[in-house]
Amino acid sequence: MSTLPSHLAALVGKSVNEIDTPSLVIDLDAMKRNLARMAEFAKKHNVRWRPHAKMHKCASLAKAQMRAGAVGVCVQKTAEAEALAAGGVHNIYISNEVIAPAKLARVAALARHLAAEGGKLAIAVDSTEGVIRLAQAMNDARTASGVATVIDVFVEMDVGQGRCGVEPGAAAVTLALEIRKHPALHFAGLQAYHGKAQHIRSAQERRDAIAKAVQSVVMTRQLIEAQGMAVDLVTGAGTGSFLLEAASGVYGELQAGSFLFMDADYARNERDAAQPPFEHALFVKTQVMSTHAGHAVCDAGHKSHAIDSGLPMVHALEGEAELEYANGGDEHGILRATGAGKRLPGLGQTVWLIPGHCDPTVNLHNAMIGVTGGLAAGTVQRVYRVDARGALT
Ligand SMILES: Cc1ncc(COP(=O)(O)O)c(C=O)c1O
Repeated sequence: MSTLPSHLAALVGKSVNEIDTPSLVIDLDAMKRNLARMAEFAKKHNVRWRPHAKMHKCASLAKAQMRAGAVGVCVQKTAEAEALAAGGVHNIYISNEVIAPAKLARVAALARHLAAEGGKLAIAVDSTEGVIRLAQAMNDARTASGVATVIDVFVEMDVGQGRCGVEPGAAAVTLALEIRKHPALHFAGLQAYHGKAQHIRSAQERRDAIAKAVQSVVMTRQLIEAQGMAVDLVTGAGTGSFLLEAASGVYGELQAGSFLFMDADYARNERDAAQPPFEHALFVKTQVMSTHAGHAVCDAGHKSHAIDSGLPMVHALEGEAELEYANGGDEHGILRATGAGKRLPGLGQTVWLIPGHCDPTVNLHNAMIGVTGGLAAGTVQRVYRVDARGALT
């Protein structure tokens, strides 16, 4: 595993002012509070939590989440699982379908590696062909290594997102029965993640969407149980809805990931009163490089932050002018004054951005610089490598 470049490692102990721009910065105090709130929530509601590590892509943060009580982490890609495993994360769920035989061979090898480390790999399926190919890869790995490993397999249901997943009901039963035929596969339960519900702004409409998902899970679970198979676990949920899945009594595991950093898009959701409050903890530090009569230009464009879920919000520190960010292209951001007095920042002034969407923003950076003591006058505590940056296969 490669180490951090020396200029980044050398930042530890230095003032936040010495962080070059544009850089991705974590407010570690806010992040720790977010982590503690999720841990407390899960404990109180007696549910497991398996945060989605596709968000931070960082083995150190995954391990911090597990130390706080998470049972493991989710990832979306085989290569993400490999990168986190190389960083010492041993309980990983690929909450996604893998079909290519070459990738499934890597999945089987990783399952064996994690089992040898005392951990576990799990994976989702949504087709009979996918189950057969996975079983084939596990059998091939056993033949080649002489070691028999069993992988946990979740049947993914489409509970409203219209992405992967079989229709609730008979199709899920067929897959569960297919999994049962293969000794290297263990039917671990159902994945029922409602991606579309996460960003429904109205709290009531989110409740309605998850209530429908819960109904279809209950119906499907009954059909599987009628075949004499246990559904040990229902896993799913994201930052926008996890309190609803937790309250359902049907979901046993929460996959929310973004709560750790809380991006600008999630902040636009109407907060359900029962949801723990999460703070923004991920920022792009940028600085003004050009000033004009009606606008200033900063050095962070959409090569520094993802814009698929909207542009970043400007995070004004105490006493700072209120600003609005507009797209200036790959390397530039346009800042306009919005607050009283319409004050614009001067040349060289630091401006903090809250990214619209944390997951793809993290994937644009090699490292995240962790600061304690606040963004105004804090100190760099730790630099985190984005271990699974670009791990797309
Ligand atoms: C399968 C699955 N589970 C959980 C999540 C976590 O959602 P969030 O990061 O919005 O909390 C995602 C995010 O896209 C996902 O695809």
